[in-house]
Amino acid sequence: SNPSLLILPGDGIGPEVMAEVRRIIAWFGEKRGITFDVSEDLVGGAAYDAHGTPLHDDTMAKAQSVDAVLLGAVGGPKYDGLDFSVKPERGLLRLRKEMDLFANLRPAQCFDALADFSSLKRDVVAGLDIMIVRELTSGIYFGEPRGIIEEGNERVGINTQRYTESEIDRVARSAFELAMKRGKKVCSMEKANVMESGILWREVVTEVGKDYPEVELSHMYADAGAMQLVRWPKQFDVIVTDNLFGDLLSDAAAMLTGSLGMLPSASLGAPMENGRPKALYEPVHGSAPDIAGQAKANPIACVLSFAMALRYSFDLGAEAERVEAAVNKVLGDGARTADLLGEEGVTPVSTSGMGDAILA
Ligand code: NAI
Ligand code: MG
Repeated sequence: SNPSLLILPGDGIGPEVMAEVRRIIAWFGEKRGITFDVSEDLVGGAAYDAHGTPLHDDTMAKAQSVDAVLLGAVGGPKYDGLDFSVKPERGLLRLRKEMDLFANLRPAQCFDALADFSSLKRDVVAGLDIMIVRELTSGIYFGEPRGIIEEGNERVGINTQRYTESEIDRVARSAFELAMKRGKKVCSMEKANVMESGILWREVVTEVGKDYPEVELSHMYADAGAMQLVRWPKQFDVIVTDNLFGDLLSDAAAMLTGSLGMLPSASLGAPMENGRPKALYEPVHGSAPDIAGQAKANPIACVLSFAMALRYSFDLGAEAERVEAAVNKVLGDGARTADLLGEEGVTPVSTSGMGDAILA
């Protein structure tokens, strides 16, 4: 049967950028004979307007049954006054929680034509293609005990870094599986020199690595890793790290390569019956109410999120490369949405203009 994809355009520029992905999906059917069973549904404010909830139970059930979910963005000023329980963001949070998406994937990819926009030197970032896998559902942001307590005559703020072996094992497996579809290198980052959780992290990742003899595994202390990430990021392929270090490292890595309108992401869960992980793909950016409805949004983050789905959920790595090569080509040819303008005298293309160029 065809691979199945649930599209949740959401709010603001979400539907605008998703329209360009739908055209690319149609292109794959017409020109490449690759057909997806695509269903579309509401999420966020759009779902609240229709059903009084940011994610209908039927939508949740659909998300659990498809090979991959592709989401645009949720939220907007219209919904700012809503009760917390029905805020648009809650729709996204429910998807992440009920699909148990414990591995957050943030690629840092630098297209040649944009290398001069980076704050780093061109040769450090040109052609960069690395993936940070951040553990997303455990660690110091969730560990107990936590709180602010009285101790003697002052207060103490407490958080607990806590990882079970199985939590480390599953995110490590996600990282090795990804590496098998990429450059076959994993670098694990922790602080085994000063943290017990780091010692366990290193042990478990090393064990998991034995199941992937083709993948070259290395370990780095996370502080040294941060330095290496900025010094020479091309030494990495897949980096796997915990929730806290991953938060910092992935934000830093994102800025190696330019605009928010270019950044895709994915969140992966446990393998399903077909062996592929549950997966939600989405651009990093939000619903951009300041430019919504003006045909200014850059669709590339959403297009690249779809490319990630091709590679990691549908085993269509060559087709993913085709999409990425098209993006690289149009940028090289000078097509720029307004968020990418830097040079004088360049007229920005619209959202669909960028879609046209990518399709061509
Ligand atoms: P945002 O990412 O929506 O926008 C930040 C800035 O980047 C804006 O100036 C926007 O115009 C620009 N921008 C973002 N995406 C762009 C694109 N594809 N092309 C061109 N320019 C782009 O973040 P902001 O303004 O903080 O949040 C707006 C709304 O989005 C809020 O309701 C927020 O809660 C929601 N949001 C939703 C997310 C999601 O659905 N995953 C993530 C972040 C925010
Ligand atoms: Mg962050």
